Amino acid sequence: MNRIIIYLSIVLVLSLNACVSSLTKKTAENLKSALNTELTASEKYTKFAQVAMSEGFDTLSQLFIAASKSEKIHAANHERMLHKYGGNSDNPEIAAYQVKTSKENLDAAIKSELFDMQSLYPGFIKTAEIETAPDGATAFTWAWSGDKRHLNFYRKATASLAAGNENGISYLWYVCPKCGNLYNPDDIKTLCEVCLEKQENFIGFAKEESK
Ligand SMILES: [Fe+2]
Repeated sequence: MNRIIIYLSIVLVLSLNACVSSLTKKTAENLKSALNTELTASEKYTKFAQVAMSEGFDTLSQLFIAASKSEKIHAANHERMLHKYGGNSDNPEIAAYQVKTSKENLDAAIKSELFDMQSLYPGFIKTAEIETAPDGATAFTWAWSGDKRHLNFYRKATASLAAGNENGISYLWYVCPKCGNLYNPDDIKTLCEVCLEKQENFIGFAKEESK
């Protein structure tokens, strides 16, 4: 009798899990897609940082390094939520991208951040809300907020390079380890404005070399 009850309990739990997974199926698919997007961005920005350094743009290189870390945190959040909603993160796909000069790389970075911010994440957030997947919606919202700030920093960097200098780019960066939001010393907050993580936990870049 006990074995029958245990068997029925297992069947019930598995059925409930399958039901929950089917209700958040599209969100899980979107999380996998967003995971691939963020991993691609992280790898791409590391390559862009190397090009910037080789061209003598040390400060721009620091921005790309910090942004790469930011994207990696977005990816880790997406992966965790993907598992929560029953998906798997095996075999992530890095999309094709080109590495050119720093000015061209900045243009490409602006285009990809604009796409993520305007076309990718708003739909993903809406779907997660429809499927009642609030943690998925939060992961997408955090990435959307981060990409919005990346876009702003890349635009300032583009203007600086056009003026023939790197004066509009910070050399020192901080990344929130929880949501991936990127800060410079001019706009850093006591608490992360997106996820409320304490500033003391932020990851600093180029501290010892700050200008
Ligand atoms: Fe944060």
